Amino acid sequence: MEELFLTCEKSNKKLYNKLLKQTAKAISDAFVNESAYSGPTPDELKAIVRQDSILPEHGLGWDKVFELTKEKVLPNLLRTPSTEYMPHLHGPSLLETIAAETIISTFNQSMDSWDQSPVATEIEVETICHLCKLYGYDETKADGVFTSGGSQSNQTALLLARDWYCNKHLNYDIKKYGVDEKCSKLRMYTSEISHFSMEKSCHIMGLGYKSVVKVPVDSRKKMDVAALRSLIEEDIKAGNIPFLIVATVGTTDFGSIDPLEELCQLAREHNMWLHADAAYGSGVIMSDKYRSRVAGLSLCDSITVDFHKMFLMPISCSAVLLKDGSTFDALTIHADYLNREEDEEDGYTNLVDKSMQTTRRFDALKVWMSFQTRGRDGWSKIITTSMDNAAYLYSILRNDSDFVVITEPEISSVVFRYKGKDENADGAALDEINKKVRRSLIHEHGTIIGQTVSSGRVCLKFTLLNPRITHEKLDSLLELIKNIAKTK
Ligand SMILES: Cc1ncc(COP(=O)(O)O)c(C=O)c1O
Repeated sequence: MEELFLTCEKSNKKLYNKLLKQTAKAISDAFVNESAYSGPTPDELKAIVRQDSILPEHGLGWDKVFELTKEKVLPNLLRTPSTEYMPHLHGPSLLETIAAETIISTFNQSMDSWDQSPVATEIEVETICHLCKLYGYDETKADGVFTSGGSQSNQTALLLARDWYCNKHLNYDIKKYGVDEKCSKLRMYTSEISHFSMEKSCHIMGLGYKSVVKVPVDSRKKMDVAALRSLIEEDIKAGNIPFLIVATVGTTDFGSIDPLEELCQLAREHNMWLHADAAYGSGVIMSDKYRSRVAGLSLCDSITVDFHKMFLMPISCSAVLLKDGSTFDALTIHADYLNREEDEEDGYTNLVDKSMQTTRRFDALKVWMSFQTRGRDGWSKIITTSMDNAAYLYSILRNDSDFVVITEPEISSVVFRYKGKDENADGAALDEINKKVRRSLIHEHGTIIGQTVSSGRVCLKFTLLNPRITHEKLDSLLELIKNIAKTK
C-alpha cells in the first residue's frame, strides 16, 4: 500500500473510499444475529489470535490483513447494540456518532491548542456552553472541558476542588508548594458505593486513600445525610479539614441518586465544594418524564457528564462542568510552544489551559452532531424508554418468587438474585448458581449480563442502556435464567 494519507490526490481518495466501504460492509456483515457474543472462552480466543509476529519483515498488505481481521477479530467482538448486551455502563454507539468518529479520526485534530484544532476548538467551546445551560448553570460564568471519561472528569473536579479550598480557605498555594502537613488533613466524603475513581484520584493527588471518608447508604442505596453530618463533625473535632462532598448521581451498580439538595446545604454550611459524579445519571436530564430526578445537579459546583454511558456515544466521550469556570486556573501552565499568553489576548483559545491532557481528541463533535440530529424529543424517547424498561423489570422481579430484587431502580439498572422456591436454600450455594448462570449466558447463549455483590451475596445485574430492549425480551431472559439455574 503506497498511499499513506487521505489527500487531494485522486489515488489517495480512491483508496480511502475503498477501505472505508470495505470496512463498513465487513462490520455490518459481522452482525449475523441478535446475540451479543459468539461465545469463545479466554483460551479459545488466545488460540484464535496467536501469531508468530505482528511485525513481519515485509508488510502483508491491506487485503491480507483485512482478511485476517475479518476472520479473527470481527466475529468475536461484542456486538454492543444487541438487546442481549447489558453488563455494564457501556453501551452501543448511535449511528450518527460513528460517522462523527470517522470525521474525528480522519482529520485528527488535537484539542490542546487553537492552531491544532481551529474549528474543533470553537465547536467544543460552543458545546460546553450549551451543556452548562442544559444542566442549569449560568453559562456566562460556568465552563467545562471534554475528558477521556468519567474517571478523568472526576479526577479533574477533585483536583480543582482541593486547589480552590486550599487557596480560598487555607490561604495556601498548593499548586506551587504541594501537599504539606496541613493538607494531609484534608478529607472528602462520598458514599460507600461511589466509584473507585475517588480513591484513585486522592492517591494521585498525594492525599491517599485515608482522605476518602466513606459514608453509609440507606436501603435505597443513597448516601445517608445524617451519617455524613456526624462524620464531618467528628472529623472537625479530630482536627481534620473537610473540603469536599462527592454525590453520586447514578451509582455504578444500582443507579441510585444521592440527595443533592440536602448535600448542597451541608456543603454550604461547611464551606465545602460539592461535586456530582453524574457519569451515569447525567443522561436523565434528557427525559421529559424523569428529568426532575436530577434537578439538583444545578446546585453542584462541578458535574461529571459521561457521553459514553447513557448517551450511547463511542468511547471516549466525557466532560467535566464547573459552575465557576475561573477555578480552571489551577490547571493552567504556559508553554512557549503551545499556549502563548498573547494568544488569549488576541482571541485564540488554547483548551490545554483547562485540561489534564495535552494531546486530546475532538470528542465534542459527537455530542454536537448527535444532539442536533435527534433533538430534545428524540433524546427524551431514548432515555425514557431505558428507564421505563428498568421500572418494568423491577415490577416483574418483585412479583416472581424465584427472584429477590435488591432495590427499586432510579435510572436504568436492576440488581437481583436468583433464589429459587426453596426458602431454606443455602446462600453460598445460591451464589454459585448465580455465577454459573452468568457464565452460561455468555458462552452458551451469547448474552452478556452483569454480576455484582450486595450485602455479601452474589447478584445479577441488567444495565438497560439500550432502548431497543423490549419487555418481551426481558421476560424471555428471566425465563432463560430460571431454566439455566434449575440445571446448575
Ligand atoms: C458512577 C461512575 N463514575 C465514574 C465512572 C468512571 O467512568 P469511566 O469508565 O468513563 O472512566 C464510572 C464507570 O462506570 C461510574 O459508574
